[in-house]
Amino acid sequence: AQDPRIAGISSAIRVIPDFPKPGIMFQDITTLLLDTKAFRDTIDLFVERYKDKNISVVAGIEARGFIFGPPIALAIGAKFVPMRKPKKLPGEVISEEYSLEYGKDVMEMHVGAVQAGERALIVDDLVATGGTLSAAIRLLERVGVHVVECACVIELPELKVCLKIQKVIWCPNYIYI
Ligand code: PRP
Repeated sequence: AQDPRIAGISSAIRVIPDFPKPGIMFQDITTLLLDTKAFRDTIDLFVERYKDKNISVVAGIEARGFIFGPPIALAIGAKFVPMRKPKKLPGEVISEEYSLEYGKDVMEMHVGAVQAGERALIVDDLVATGGTLSAAIRLLERVGVHVVECACVIELPELKVCLKIQKVIWCPNYIYI
């Protein structure tokens, strides 16, 4: 049976059609943040899954991974590391390029934020094609970090994700392997 908290979380996420462009059903998590029970339940579900997995790093993806990542990190006793868009981080960075629907983007992480051998959880609000999560995985693995899992609040059904990412992507209501 599905965890009873999931229905409340799902109904607190607002769907806005045709944003930012026609045909896109935008999954708006700002309404989830307004609902204190649904927001707390979201964090609790992740904390329950990850608290005893010896994770020392929560890597949050800009922008909405910065909302869900830090409360999870604090609750499981891990540090929080932001994975940012280019030219935002002031220190020395390592970068990873990835493909978007149209064109390319770059993700950056501070050198020295993580050490080889650490165990990381990657957090974002949503997975669609999996391109963003793939870049985050590559960035962490390049510096010798073990990515335990990726966790997202929402998954959009794009079956190709399963083939592209050799990691568990855990969303409260779905598990992709
Ligand atoms: C969205 C979402 C994920 C990514 C998922 O971010 O928050 O980070 O897309 O897509 P993918 O699985 O196809 O890679 P967005 O591009 O809207 O950037 P933003 O969070 O900075 O607004």
